[in-house]
Amino acid sequence: MTTVRTGFEIRRVGGRLGAEIIGLDLSADLEPAIVAELNAALLEHKAVFFRGQDLSDEDQTRFAASFGALTIAHPTVPSVDGQPSVLAVNAEDGARANRWHTDVTFVRTPPKASTLRSLVVPPYGGNTLIANAAAAYQDLPERLREFADRLWAVHTNDYDYLQPPADGKAAERRAVFVSRRYRTAHPVVRVHPETGERGQFIGGFAQQLVGLSTSESRDILRILQAYVTRPENIVRWQWAPGDLVLFDNRITQHYAPDDYADLPRLLHRVTVAGDVPTGITGERSYLLEGDEAAHYTSV
Ligand code: SIN
Repeated sequence: MTTVRTGFEIRRVGGRLGAEIIGLDLSADLEPAIVAELNAALLEHKAVFFRGQDLSDEDQTRFAASFGALTIAHPTVPSVDGQPSVLAVNAEDGARANRWHTDVTFVRTPPKASTLRSLVVPPYGGNTLIANAAAAYQDLPERLREFADRLWAVHTNDYDYLQPPADGKAAERRAVFVSRRYRTAHPVVRVHPETGERGQFIGGFAQQLVGLSTSESRDILRILQAYVTRPENIVRWQWAPGDLVLFDNRITQHYAPDDYADLPRLLHRVTVAGDVPTGITGERSYLLEGDEAAHYTSV
């Protein structure tokens, strides 16, 4: 289905999430009406894709900032030089995000949205998969949904998120990643602050369920996560240089298959600051370890 709105076209690319936006130049200043339309498209489709933008870091930063205050690049990983909000996702530095996750859920205020921009893409592979966590919640059998509604999970940055072998650059990156340890309890079912939709809020940083043992947590999280990663709930984006992807980090997970051997792959990421997640009873996430990440909430 194709929809034409304020001067741009929205073309769905996945059955349950994802749409390409055609006819916008993101290097230009966008009028508030267009930003509002894009935000509406983001809420509806959860991930929106733009081809052939060829943006600078400044352009990407300005575009992301139209959706709200930006975070610094990452709570522990340094930014690109001179660009405090830009994180390099460079495969040559061991940044291969081949675990399903939602960005930075180990802090109390995970980003609202993430933008990824492709600078170098391998000739094959190196795609990004994005999953719809609201559809995953709806797919749960009712009894499991009611069970999930009451669960809370502890998210931490201190887990083995890099696939083995974690040596060389990957080991160095992990040491930086965990140089400050965070643990935050979030509801397993999060209510989206703008749409009211419920979605499973788990992913790789969710390592333990509150009140359950490690092995019980692992088994239950595995069952819940299997609904997120059902092929029906996933859209796959095949990068070309100069693309930009914007996804709603409150209700999606993503994964970058490590299927491009030693070929170079470089994306730049800029994230928009988010709020404190809320569960279905209105209770909000709480910090267990680490600072408030106030340096991370906005810049
Ligand atoms: C990320 O998780 O921030 C990067 C995703 C990707 O490399 O496609």
